[in-house]
Amino acid sequence: MTNLKKNILEGIPSKLPPKKKRNPKISHSPKRKDILNKEEKKLAIRNALRYFPKSMHSVLAPEFAEELKTYSRIYMYRFMPEYEIKARHLEDFPHKSKQAAAIQLMLSNNLDHAIAQHPEELITYGGNGAVFQNWAQYLLCMQYLAKMTDEQTLVLYSGHPMGLFPSHKDAPRVVVTNGMMIPNYSKPDDWEKFNALGVTQYGQMTAGSFMYIGSQGIVHGTTITVLNAARKIDAKAEDLSGKIFVTSGLGGMSGAQPKAGVIAKGVCIVAEVNPQATYKRHEQGWVDEVYTDLDKLLDRAIAARENKEAVSIAYNGNIVEIWERIVEREIHIEIGSDQTSLHNPWAGGYYPIGMSYENANEMMYNNPEEFKKEVQKTLVRHTNAINTLTKRGMYFFDYGNAFLLEASRACADILKDNGDFKYPSYVQDIMGPMCFDYGFGPFRWVCASNDPKDLATTDRIAAEVLEEIMQSSPDEIKLQMSDNINWIKAARLNKMVVGSQARILYADAEGRMKIAEAFNNAIASSELSAPVVLGRDHHDVSGTDSPYRETSNIYDGSQFTADMAIQNVIGDSFRGATWVSIHNGGGVGWGEVINGGFGMLLDGSADADRRLKSMLFWDVNNGISRRNWARNKEANFAIKRAMEMNPELKVTMPNIADDDLINSLEF
Ligand SMILES: NC(=O)c1ccc[n+]([C@@H]2O[C@H](COP(=O)([O-])OP(=O)(O)OC[C@H]3O[C@@H](n4cnc5c(N)ncnc54)[C@H](O)[C@@H]3O)[C@@H](O)[C@H]2O)c1
Repeated sequence: MTNLKKNILEGIPSKLPPKKKRNPKISHSPKRKDILNKEEKKLAIRNALRYFPKSMHSVLAPEFAEELKTYSRIYMYRFMPEYEIKARHLEDFPHKSKQAAAIQLMLSNNLDHAIAQHPEELITYGGNGAVFQNWAQYLLCMQYLAKMTDEQTLVLYSGHPMGLFPSHKDAPRVVVTNGMMIPNYSKPDDWEKFNALGVTQYGQMTAGSFMYIGSQGIVHGTTITVLNAARKIDAKAEDLSGKIFVTSGLGGMSGAQPKAGVIAKGVCIVAEVNPQATYKRHEQGWVDEVYTDLDKLLDRAIAARENKEAVSIAYNGNIVEIWERIVEREIHIEIGSDQTSLHNPWAGGYYPIGMSYENANEMMYNNPEEFKKEVQKTLVRHTNAINTLTKRGMYFFDYGNAFLLEASRACADILKDNGDFKYPSYVQDIMGPMCFDYGFGPFRWVCASNDPKDLATTDRIAAEVLEEIMQSSPDEIKLQMSDNINWIKAARLNKMVVGSQARILYADAEGRMKIAEAFNNAIASSELSAPVVLGRDHHDVSGTDSPYRETSNIYDGSQFTADMAIQNVIGDSFRGATWVSIHNGGGVGWGEVINGGFGMLLDGSADADRRLKSMLFWDVNNGISRRNWARNKEANFAIKRAMEMNPELKVTMPNIADDDLINSLEF
């Protein structure tokens, strides 16, 4: 047996491993808020010690107290494994269940140093998107996965493995919940407190659900967004060429923007305050050029626009500096957005202008009230500059990062007279009507052989399937289909794979089911050398209820309900998902969204064929039916098509009231 297998099977080591220092060469979570009182700190230590035999407590209790004092969290650094955590061939993981091995592969990918934002704090992306709260949970979870059979289900409460429970082979192997709170306890400080106590975590969307595949996961969606933003402001435009897109963030998801801007053939300027993030993205080839001099950067961008050059340019500094200089120099910018982590404004998601990154981090911890004031002042300046530029003709959209929400909370000039935001979200204007309402969403897969050859085969198969479907696609979705076919054909050339051999491809219910079926057949015939894991981002048609993002184009009032996301995860779990997850928070913030997702292992069997058809059909059409009930005409069209394709589907259709009748009513 390999050492890796032995180590995973051992779980929490029976002998205390040597104390470990943090790796100074990698990025670490900022020190969190010191929110617990003395009694609560004792409770946090008691909670942490539950994972270890009493004989270790006298050593670990003061060590955990020190971690709590230094970082305001207990990460249990001593228990970080010696082996490299990364995606490998499914067979390299110890297992009795192939499905459980696939889950080990996927969660290992989320903690890979090349992938995770703060790997030693088990944070994958978004500043606080956790896979686990501490290393004991990781070790225990891997051990359970290694030992479990297809007759058991592992239950994870916010990273804590509650244990293995007897179930059956059609049940999910793992059920994940992250950050599910009693609704009144979902304020940002509740996360600080209960996370510090070790009883909950912020799972983001694909961090705590083991479905993160690096920035590639978001590049396709971002490409679709910027392409269609360009088409929206210029009816003759096929793409972004000859246009400048200005935005911020080179983090987990935001780092996809420069790549997407170049794929869309435009000029993309991105500001990033954290030099580690800026230079990491540059080294990875996700951003072409880095500048610290604002004027040189802007001159470069203007020249590139004139030459219709596709290039991405990073500014190592604050986004507001760029916006204000653009205003001063009266440069015309076609498209603007923002992808700082404003879902997490007080704990490192958004940096104030006028101070260094280090000083800001220090203030965040030592003087959180002052830090909050500086963030809000910066948001006001940020908004003022954008308002000036939109008056001069720029198209600005919110990129689902809670920019509009936090700007309004900072009392910036961001509201119209009727109380609505001045700017649309990218879902209201682009992704909702063009993609989600038709069922197009971020379908993805990972080759469990970890072999690039298998990935190339899946790319080819997926392109063939979509081209076949396209022949009979109705006009309403032809543009989406052709964008997606172009994407998958160029995917390998765009070199986006970091970590697991993964691919993202926007597809609708028909596309997802037919691609999955073709993969399953290719596994059965050995055209693919090993199983394939299917999944999707939570940021999809049906998985997420989020009034300022995924469901921001729902206008019947139900955007503040979360029935769809809950129905989705329940439905997926009994239709054959290998694992399911449901989260509070993700993207726009704790308490602001409920989102869920699934993973499904295709192993070439007839069982997998049955499961994929049953589950994927529901996984997309659940959301379309709700969007249809909200009177979205694109969803109305899509659900009628789905009912024609499967007569077993019978969806309640909305009757549309006459506007004159409604307006004639007196109240
Ligand atoms: N890409 C998408 O399609 C998409 C979709 C929906 C939402 N989002 C949202 O976008 C946000 C970013 O996600 P992420 O995973 O990249 O987060 P992240 O925390 O990894 O990256 C954000 C980056 O912004 C930088 N930053 C913060 N303040 C800044 C400032 N004032 N100027 C310049 N840079 C600054 C941070 O240093 C960080 O590197 C999140 O709120 C996420 O929910 C993204």
